[in-house]
Amino acid sequence: MKVLVIGGGGREHALVWALKKSERVTEVVCAPGNGGIAAQARCIPMDVADLASLVAIAEQEKPDLTVVGPELPLSIGIVDELKRLGFKVFGPTQAAAKLETSKAFAKEFMQRHGIPTAAYAVCTSIEQVREELLKFEAPAVVVKADGLAAGKGVVMCSTHAEAEAAAEEMFSGALLGAVQTELVLEEFLEGEELSFFALCDGTHAIPMAAAQDHKRIGEGDTGPNTGGMGAYSTDGLMTPAMRGWLTKEVAQQTVDGMRAEGTPFVGILFCGMMMTPRGPMVLEFNTRFGDPETQAMLMRMETDVLELFEAGVDGTADTLVVRMKEGASVCVIAASGGYPGKIENGKIISGLDEAAAVADGFVFHSGTTVKDGALVTAGGRVLGITAMSENGLEDALAKAYSMMEKISFEGMQFRRDIGWRAIRPMLQVVERE
Ligand code: AMP
Ligand code: GLY
Repeated sequence: MKVLVIGGGGREHALVWALKKSERVTEVVCAPGNGGIAAQARCIPMDVADLASLVAIAEQEKPDLTVVGPELPLSIGIVDELKRLGFKVFGPTQAAAKLETSKAFAKEFMQRHGIPTAAYAVCTSIEQVREELLKFEAPAVVVKADGLAAGKGVVMCSTHAEAEAAAEEMFSGALLGAVQTELVLEEFLEGEELSFFALCDGTHAIPMAAAQDHKRIGEGDTGPNTGGMGAYSTDGLMTPAMRGWLTKEVAQQTVDGMRAEGTPFVGILFCGMMMTPRGPMVLEFNTRFGDPETQAMLMRMETDVLELFEAGVDGTADTLVVRMKEGASVCVIAASGGYPGKIENGKIISGLDEAAAVADGFVFHSGTTVKDGALVTAGGRVLGITAMSENGLEDALAKAYSMMEKISFEGMQFRRDIGWRAIRPMLQVVERE
């Protein structure tokens, strides 16, 4: 079976790596791929925002299955186009991807279907923002641009005045470059964040795993937001009861609602949760695998990933149980100097062979390319150093950081505290002893 993977980041490297393990997969092609993916799959350079080229690649390659990694091609309707041409493709249609591509749609959808989420107001003018802000009792308010904004469209405000200013900057275009016509004001929630992933086939939602991401650049979750500096996945993140509740009350409820509205959801539903004292609430939906959560999650997955995609496309997810290895897995991102601000590409990467010698680990490439025969940096997030251990998170972290020690490129930065929220209580116990 020939599989085409669309995308070129660490998530797609993990998808290619997992697909290559499947006995029935004979060939994997990746568009555009990256310097690391090229070692495992034929890569076809292209721009994932260019629908016509994506379609042309599918027509030329004739894959038996296409798997879409990033949100951008989903948002421009790659799944609709490929389905129309008779291809098998795993991922949501443009209409179903609105759960991620429009925050206003997602909030209104959740309200229509009784899915727990923060109180909110959708606003289309600054006058409406001022009026709606009066209804928010607490001073802290979150302002969110409606559309995809690569993590930059969410502003946490500690006063209503700040929220009004952020909204003004969104409407004027000063904040995101483009003028926003719609935004969401949201009650500020406190609690632990949890990413919950479910496989959906249009009718059924099947739980996969939970993971925790580290979005801020700095240790202790400080500094500006990034695409994600590391993630870990353990069974302990979620009790079996919580897993059951999230599957039923969030994922299945979403799948039922989307089906009832005539836009069935096929793909990975990534539920970004805040575990508040009032109960779990949805912060956002993504309609795809997370990056870097996928690198960590797939390293623990025992189920053949091909079976997962096929069950999604064929509508047979109810017959599938997603099995994960016991223990923990972790992905630590090595990023370019200056990230998430201005970066310089083309730095030579060394030490990957030494890192590869560590058992139960793998270095997934995010932003790398091969230039004049050398592997060099080509993006903000460069590598995802990933490891798993049946002995738990601390052991998985020790492996990942021992791999990290061997790797270097000019300006390389990484967080040394991935998993700290899970590890800190353990450390306190040790300190007391
Ligand atoms: P989103 O893209 O909506 O997930 O927002 C990005 C990040 O902003 C989340 O991962 C949270 O850390 C934070 N965030 C979003 N909405 C809220 C909220 N209502 N209360 C507190 N933090 C939030
Ligand atoms: N790690 C967050 C995301 O993929 O959106």
